[in-house]
Amino acid sequence: MKRVAILISGSGSNMVALVGALADMPDACACLVLSNRPEAAGLAKAEALGVPTAVVDHRAFGGDRQAFERALQAALEKAAPDVICLAGFMRVLSGDFVARWQGRMLNIHPSLLPRYKGLDTHRRAIEAGEREAGCSVHEVTAELDGGPVLGQARVAIQPGDTPERLAARILPLEHRLYPAVLKRFLAGERRPLFLD
Ligand code: GRF
Repeated sequence: MKRVAILISGSGSNMVALVGALADMPDACACLVLSNRPEAAGLAKAEALGVPTAVVDHRAFGGDRQAFERALQAALEKAAPDVICLAGFMRVLSGDFVARWQGRMLNIHPSLLPRYKGLDTHRRAIEAGEREAGCSVHEVTAELDGGPVLGQARVAIQPGDTPERLAARILPLEHRLYPAVLKRFLAGERRPLFLD
């Protein structure tokens, strides 16, 4: 049984999609939903879905990233996941932390990587006059948003699009892409999936 931990910071809509997909996978389970923010709305959603939850509040460590990551590592080791999915997790993880999980940690990023790493991706794509935008699932490495891409979904940017309208069109694609990529990843498939 492959155990999957999901890290969130906010609404957790990608987490809900992943938990739903895992429920349909006979040889995998969602073993933990962990948030760095106690007020994340995703925590109540995870509890309603019957998934164990945990909070490691980064603010309790007053900027001491190493102490935060030690607590995060301890919480994860207790859950003993085979795979970690970052899903709207808004903390940058250190190279040391990533190295411990490299090859077993995925992230979803709201751009067509390698373009538009970092934040505010939809506004940047619109302002650059891009014709397309989208989302990518990638393996997490020490380079922020830089790991091997495992899947992508794309949409056309329409005239007059705002970042909010674009995000609203892409989020449902994220909810299709991430579970599909996780399923392949758990089966050992590493070739990227491109959703049309
Ligand atoms: C999504 O747009 C995702 O691409 C980005 O943060 C958002 C997470 O939303 N990483 P949610 O918390 O999964 O609803």
